[in-house]
Amino acid sequence: MNSQIVLLPVQSKLPRGQTLKSHQFHVLQSTMNAGTTRHRKLSRWTARQIALTKPFVFLVALYPMLHWIWLGFNAGLTANPAEFLIKSSGVWALVALALTLAVTPLRRILRQPALLRYRRMLGLFAFFYSALHTLGWAWWERGGSLLSMAQDTWQRPFIAAGVIVMIPMLLMALTSTRGWMRRLGRGWQRLHYAIYPIAVLSVVHFWLIRAGKNNFFEPYVYAAIFSALLLFRIVHHRQKRASS
Ligand code: HEM
Repeated sequence: MNSQIVLLPVQSKLPRGQTLKSHQFHVLQSTMNAGTTRHRKLSRWTARQIALTKPFVFLVALYPMLHWIWLGFNAGLTANPAEFLIKSSGVWALVALALTLAVTPLRRILRQPALLRYRRMLGLFAFFYSALHTLGWAWWERGGSLLSMAQDTWQRPFIAAGVIVMIPMLLMALTSTRGWMRRLGRGWQRLHYAIYPIAVLSVVHFWLIRAGKNNFFEPYVYAAIFSALLLFRIVHHRQKRASS
């Protein structure tokens, strides 16, 4: 902002007939400029600041897992621990996925490009909870039998949706390193765009489960959140194309 304009109210507060002398004006102006520069420097988070907060974000993201362990030692995993853990890990996988997708809109809205540095970690947590969820199903519901897993996938559409989601998720997790990013070049970006169909299909998976119970409230909440995040991306992409 032009500091001369901002200084006008200061001028108007002076006794009638008196104006700010040239050197007073410059002192005020430079103080204000120093203030705004400092403000600008403080408001943009640096890569180092983000790196310092990462262990904290890691621990927060690990909270569901630590909570299950705590519940396990305190007989808190309900009467059916397998069902509880499968459902709970499924919900946390969805939450981590939503947070991963929220990084880009948030860094644009808050004008904090460095937030991008959280994205890989959050994405890997989404995979981590999805993998625990899938292993829970494979072990507790299907007894670790590949044949039984294949039959269940064939017979129940919501299981098929979950299995389809896990394939690109696994590929994305395996190629999330810098080395793979370099090796795949533009293909890496294309592969990682799979996060959008993954998000859609994860909600479909949830929706199909709740369709059997006629309880759609939570799937609708997640559908609304994911739609808003996807819409933000589409609008931003269109604006970028229009301006280039
Ligand atoms: C191989 C992949 C997957 C399989 C086999 C699978 C299987 C299951 C099963 C058996 C349930 C319990 C259904 C019931 O209550 O009757 C479930 C629930 C759920 N799954 Fe999955 N799932 C898979 C992938 C995913 C993924 C990738 C996500 C999310 C990113 C997810 C999110 C959920 C959610 C939110 C629930 C519902 C929890 C609730 O009802 O409270 N699942 N899944």
